[in-house]
Amino acid sequence: MSEKVVLTGIKPTGMPHLGNYVGALKPLIEQSKTQKTFMFIADLHALNTIHDAAQIKQHTYEIAALMVALGLDLNNAILFRQSDISEIYHLNTLLTNVTPKGLMNRAHSYKAAMDKNIAIGADVDAGINMGLYTYPILMTADILLYNSDIVPVGADQKQHVEFARDIAGYFNKIYGDTFKMPEPIIGTETGLIPGLDGRKMSKSYDNIIPLFAPEKDLKKKIMRIITDSKLPEDKKDPDESTIYQLYKHFATDAEIAEFAEMFRRGGMGYGTAKTILFEKINSVLAEPRAKYEYLMSNTAEIEAILADGAKRAGAVARETLGRVKKAMLG
Ligand code: ADP
Ligand code: TRP
Repeated sequence: MSEKVVLTGIKPTGMPHLGNYVGALKPLIEQSKTQKTFMFIADLHALNTIHDAAQIKQHTYEIAALMVALGLDLNNAILFRQSDISEIYHLNTLLTNVTPKGLMNRAHSYKAAMDKNIAIGADVDAGINMGLYTYPILMTADILLYNSDIVPVGADQKQHVEFARDIAGYFNKIYGDTFKMPEPIIGTETGLIPGLDGRKMSKSYDNIIPLFAPEKDLKKKIMRIITDSKLPEDKKDPDESTIYQLYKHFATDAEIAEFAEMFRRGGMGYGTAKTILFEKINSVLAEPRAKYEYLMSNTAEIEAILADGAKRAGAVARETLGRVKKAMLG
């Protein structure tokens, strides 16, 4: 096992989609088999937008159950809830004192929120709470508290990891070498999963297929994939088909080659192709979905897994916070 510590947080804001699964969750789960991984549900980060405790709790269970159902290796991976580790609040407070306000002013998400206000002629700070403004400090605390080396994130989070490096650097310069320098790992843009309309599958385009939808909803979604008007007998280029692009991520090499050939040869209509795609995705996801549904109706088991994670993460957090307090306060 590599000595490097991998850490990532997932915000509990709803069911991930197939793009998130293939592009982010599946690689993380693979990595958890060989590397020490801290994986937490970033419920504190959801607080700046979700002001409903029941909803946050429910979404937290969803993400935890989903990661376990997909096969997260709980020997190497420490799965926990961000808010369960009290050291995170402490470190967050301490780090505010070495974080320049100007750095926060430059955060993309804060700037985007201001730009939106300016565009509609509202006060620039309308609807912006301090949770949003200081979001990158909390994320820095997450990363530094667990001595992370590698932080896999989506492209939109890259700046936050760079801020974590900046803040660690400011701290180390004042107080001596205390924090490691984390490296962001950004999911590549190649192999992007298309959504129902052929564009990148994304929450913001409303074109998603949820990872664990009930079987009949999954089928309905897949049947709604937009295609061109080619007839069944027409020859088709698989690379231009959303159906094939999705199939590629779930089937075996031999199945993929056969599917592509059926498209090229002509004779397979889009309806048939969608049915084959549905059956494939459904069979790959059936077992994890059953496990997910089981856990969601037995949330005490999720709590037990999170409690074990909190115990293991807490030990690391206490050690780091101890060092930081000593450096800052003597
Ligand atoms: P969305 O675009 O739906 O808001 P996010 O930005 O929350 O998705 O993405 C979270 C993670 O999932 C990122 O690491 C990103 O790389 C991955 N991801 C999102 N959409 C896709 C996609 N269509 N194909 C592959 N990976 C994706
Ligand atoms: N901010 C991340 C997101 O919105 C979630 C997150 C919180 C995170 N803390 C983190 C990711 C630490 C990586 C490391 O997706």
